[in-house]
Order: sequence, then C-alpha cells, then structure tokens
Amino acid sequence: MSSVFDAKGFIEEQVAAIRAAVGEGRAIIACSGGVDSTTAAVLASRALGDRLLGVYVDTGLMRKGETEQVSKTLKSLRVTSKVVHTADTFFGALKGVTDPERKRTIIGEKFIEVFEREAEGFRAGFLVQGTIAPDWIESGGQLRDRIKTHHNVGGLPAVMKLKLVEPLRDLYKDEVRQVARALGVSVSERQPFPGPALAVRCLGEVTPEAVEIVRAACAIVEEEIEAAAKAGAMSLPWQYFAVLLPLKSVGVHGDLRVYGRIVALRAVESVDGMTAAYSRIPHEVLDRISVRITNEVRDVNRVVYDVSNKPPATIEWE
Ligand code: XMP
Repeated sequence: MSSVFDAKGFIEEQVAAIRAAVGEGRAIIACSGGVDSTTAAVLASRALGDRLLGVYVDTGLMRKGETEQVSKTLKSLRVTSKVVHTADTFFGALKGVTDPERKRTIIGEKFIEVFEREAEGFRAGFLVQGTIAPDWIESGGQLRDRIKTHHNVGGLPAVMKLKLVEPLRDLYKDEVRQVARALGVSVSERQPFPGPALAVRCLGEVTPEAVEIVRAACAIVEEEIEAAAKAGAMSLPWQYFAVLLPLKSVGVHGDLRVYGRIVALRAVESVDGMTAAYSRIPHEVLDRISVRITNEVRDVNRVVYDVSNKPPATIEWE
C-alpha cells in the first residue's frame, strides 16, 4: 500500500480539506513532539497559518531538554505555538497519590483542564488531532466518537464543543512518516514514550525530587546506550529507560552505612510493544550506566537490571 502512496498529493488534498472544514475559523492542536501530532500540526499550519495554535503542555514530567526541543522543532516548521508551563499544577494534584491508575487519571484530567483553557483563550472552534488509523481501528472504532489526547488516557470532554479535524486518520505509521518527510518534519526516530511521561517511571508518589532523579537517570541511560549503539557495541533496543523505585536499600558511604534510592534499568526488544524480550545489553555498557547513575544522580546507590519479558511483565513498571 505504501509503495503507491502519494505523499505530495495527500498533502495538497489535506491542506485544502482543512481549509474547507475550518473556513475562517480558528483551530488548536495539542503538540507532544511525536511524529503524528507534529505532522498534523504542520499540515494544519499550512492550511490556516496563525489561525492554528499548537499547544505544548509542560507538565514538569517531561524528559531532559524535551520542552526546549519541541518548541524549537515547531518554530522551525513555522507552526505558531505556545508552551504552557504547568508543573506546579501537576505536582500539586499528584501530591500524596501512589495508586498508578489514579496518577494516570489525574494527569489526564489536569491536561484537559489546561488545554480547555487554552482553547477558550484562543477562541478555537476546531481541534486538530494527529489520530492515525491504528488508533481507532484497534479500539473497535469507538475512539472515532471520542477525542483522544496525547496521553491516551481519556478523551477531552464533549462540552468543549470543538469540531474535530483529523487529517491523518486514514494513514498508517509508514505513510505518516512519508508525509512527515515530504513536509520537512525531521522524523523522530526516538523511542516510544508514554503520554503520562516520567510519572509512570516514578513508582509511588510523583514528587519534583523523584522526577528529577528519574529524569537524570533516563538521560544517562539514553546517552550511554545510544553511544554504545553508535560505536557498534550493540544494536539500539526498541525502548530503554530508567525507573525509580519507592524503596531504599543500604549502601556504603565512607565508613557509614547509608540508605539510598534504587534505580532499575529497563531495555527491551519489541515490534509493537504488545510483547517484548529484555535486551541482552553488554555488561560493559551496563557497568558504565551503573557507575554514572550512582556517581551523578543524587541519593541513588543501587542500580538493578530488569531481565523480565512481556508477558508476564509489562514494559513500563508503573
Ligand atoms: P506496557 O508497559 O503496557 O507498555 O508494556 C507498552 C508500550 O506502551 C507505552 N505506553 C504508553 N504509550 N500512552 C502511550 O502513548 C500511554 O499512556 C502509555 N503507557 C505505556 C510503553 O512505553 C510501551 O512502549
């Protein structure tokens, strides 16, 4: 199918379709930095110019440098966009919460609140989304009637009364990538990243301190694994990251026994995330990651490697 797909023709067709749908109105899109929402934003921006607003919600739960990187990308693609800094709101709402599903719900609800405010402020009548075919086919088509947020944790409420525009809804990922390339969107080869972001990698309460630790540990894991892959010492796993456990274990510091935090390292091979096998990372790479995390990340004195497959484990620890 993709060999006959005409990306240029698709772009022309969709730019015209978005113009026809939105008319003289205004539209908004939640930009996560992923390839789908970025591609949809560029198409809509071509159609609407500054009558489209891309909103990036900085929840305080993002990876190192992510907010700056997404803003830079949108700017270079001439998408009018805004970063909303809302870390205090998210950390305030997550205070004392340890149940994983409750954390997801809170993050989804807060995201909707923030986004709703922005839509009202911009007087948007339309919501552009980067929904692609598998997003609604896999959920039995039900998602077509709902509005998917980039968190995949629930829909924006119908009371928003925004009309939905989904330019990529009939495309599969490889076709989206072709459109992205034709639009000059640097196709992110970055590994998958969950919508609720680092909150799923902080087991127990999600505090600013815990997120800071897991953010620093994840950055080290990414740096070391990507460097090792580039040097030919291993191939790049499908996904690789760090998890902060809500436990302390004993270690030594000088002559003292000190209780420190534990970081688990997770790296998996997978095709679609439905099943996964743990990656056979060379010991030298594990060693570098462990030494760097215990030296550079505050309060961490122990690093463990997760050797579980999915099933029975999942990829994220939550
Ligand atoms: P699990 O942990 O269930 O994860 O084995 C499978 C894949 O899904 C990612 N993941 C998410 N992706 N929104 C997403 O878009 C989410 O809420 C979410 N939660 C998990 C996970 O990183 C893995 O790639």
